[in-house]
Amino acid sequence: MKEVKIETILQVFTDVNELSKDIQNLMATAIEARENAYAPYSKFNVGAAILLDNNEVVIGSNQENACYPSGLCAERTAIYYAGAKYPKAKILKMAITASSQNQLTDKPIPPCGACRQSIAEYEIKQDQPIELYFMGAEGKVIRSNSLANLLPLLFENSVL
Ligand code: THU
Repeated sequence: MKEVKIETILQVFTDVNELSKDIQNLMATAIEARENAYAPYSKFNVGAAILLDNNEVVIGSNQENACYPSGLCAERTAIYYAGAKYPKAKILKMAITASSQNQLTDKPIPPCGACRQSIAEYEIKQDQPIELYFMGAEGKVIRSNSLANLLPLLFENSVL
């Protein structure tokens, strides 16, 4: 038996003002997108904004459904929209923000496992890391320079 230690490195910023202007703008677009979340069941609004290498910005927000599993997270709404609209473009950066309608969300909210797996697919497809920034409604922002940092031992298509 051999034990394997997996480490990851993330950057933690005090708030959005500590980020570069372009990331502040991308996060502002994600906050705007969050306003269009359809979350009557969870009351938890999530917004995502993606910057592509063709300079286009694509957004997404969570869209819920009375049949709960039919809804979709903001990150996947955005990344599938990017894949559908600009299939040849590379995804450079993604900003994510979440805000509960019931309480102040002042902690960074990381993407769920299914969203990580979906984002990983595009990172592998484009052979270039996707930079991720995530926050709550206010406060700290976490940066990861690649999705791979958030999903060790991912399932990937090379095994198929
Ligand atoms: N949600 C997202 O949009 N992204 C995540 O990564 C986690 C959860 C949404 C799904 C659902 O509409 C609500 O947040 C509560 O889970």
